[in-house]
Amino acid sequence: MALTSDRWTAVVLAAGQGTRMKSRLPKVLHPVAGVPMVVHVARAAREAGCSRVLAVVGHGADSVAEALAGEAEPVRQREQLGTGHALAQAESAARDAEHLLVLHGDVPLTRPETLRRMMAAHLELDADVTLLTAIVDDARAYGRVRRDAEGRVLDIVEASDLEPGEGAGGEINAGMYCFRGSWLWPRLAAIPRSPNGEYYLTHLIGLASREGSRIAVVVADDPTEALGVNDRVELAEADRIMRDRIRRFHMLNGVTLIDPPTVYIDADVTIGQDSVIGPHVTLAGKTRIGTDARIGPGCVVRDSVVGDRCRIELSVVEEATLEDDVDCGPYSHLRPGAYLCRGVHVGNFAEIKNSRVGRNTKMGHFSYLGDADVGEDVNIGAGTITCNFDGVRKHRTVIGDGAFIGSDTMLVAPVRVGRNARTAAGSVVNRDVPDGKLAVGAPARIRDLAGEEGS
Ligand code: UD1
Ligand code: MG
Repeated sequence: MALTSDRWTAVVLAAGQGTRMKSRLPKVLHPVAGVPMVVHVARAAREAGCSRVLAVVGHGADSVAEALAGEAEPVRQREQLGTGHALAQAESAARDAEHLLVLHGDVPLTRPETLRRMMAAHLELDADVTLLTAIVDDARAYGRVRRDAEGRVLDIVEASDLEPGEGAGGEINAGMYCFRGSWLWPRLAAIPRSPNGEYYLTHLIGLASREGSRIAVVVADDPTEALGVNDRVELAEADRIMRDRIRRFHMLNGVTLIDPPTVYIDADVTIGQDSVIGPHVTLAGKTRIGTDARIGPGCVVRDSVVGDRCRIELSVVEEATLEDDVDCGPYSHLRPGAYLCRGVHVGNFAEIKNSRVGRNTKMGHFSYLGDADVGEDVNIGAGTITCNFDGVRKHRTVIGDGAFIGSDTMLVAPVRVGRNARTAAGSVVNRDVPDGKLAVGAPARIRDLAGEEGS
């Protein structure tokens, strides 16, 4: 059945504090595979076909709303009085929606296909309420779904209301619902306060059953989709499951992972076809890897762009850009603002920060480039350092195309080395070297290149 998206508004409940996390960070902002869990939920709602996504925010409202910018519209819940009260805050914003998809911001593993299945069942059965359940061995603190002898849903019993020893396993409430708008709003306002002071959204299921309203139930094929994150043990579990899915996605998409369990890929990372990711690699943040690249073993690449056919081994790359055919490592560190043009070679024990390195430039051993503009076809000798910091301010170093920087050169910035100029081994260059000249000594004196002989 076609799901006309403008019939549906999603409401993500994300205002709770998450006491059991024992964290200063609001629970729903804890990342699962590098993305705040509430963002996974909002995206799933959108992908399932909801034209509008609202999020009820309260605890840490500003930071939650900020994390959701572009993903969901925030609605405030000033006091956290329970899931029923949270949904009621969305009434004025969502009044006109024909149907509502209600999700919990702490249940990050639900697939859009499953939500679509729920929404389709809701429409097909013309239900007033549809809920997603899962059959589990360990029902933890989830609400239990009670059914009568004919299998009709009676109500949901919260874990805190169970008798001791009752309901160790069985059918649990995943905390995801579809409601017909005209059914929901009048009843939501009438939820009674529970003894612990909260208004339970789950109360509506018992009410629907007593009233003879139409209830549809979708049982999740994969119970991990219902995993709610309430403490850090569940957070680690959700992270592991999500990362497993992400690895499978990339492998099925044409990426080779060597020893997949040791490869950590965040949800927003993209990897081109036929790239090979070796063992013990972390690809984090908004990293983009091109095709035919080889990353690993032993790399961390965060928020970086890595071009086609690049090779990176045993290195750390953060907020850097590598054009195609760049190689780096082992044991190098590319830091924020490093921009390496096509064909650059960075060998071992190099550090590059806030610097542009021109095409085919080579920097093989033990060097630091900070705040530098390096031209094409430059050779950076072993041990070269840009002395970019005078104790107060940072200064730039400029090196022209074709320059040759001798081993152990100290480039005391601000300084310029001209095109095709050279610096002698061990020189301390504290003034500009004109094009085609040679700098020698400490501090360096400038000579003609011809004078290089015998010096
Ligand atoms: C809830 C359900 C339980 C279900 C489980 C699934 C209720 C009463 N219980 O329990 O049946 O099995 O989810 O994971 O609904 N929230 C607000 N405002 C509030 C309180 C909560 O926005 O005042 C949000 C939270 O941020 C969270 C979600 O609602 O994202 C669920 O709240 P939580 O306290 O985690 O409920 P559970 O105990 O997990
Ligand atoms: Mg929860």
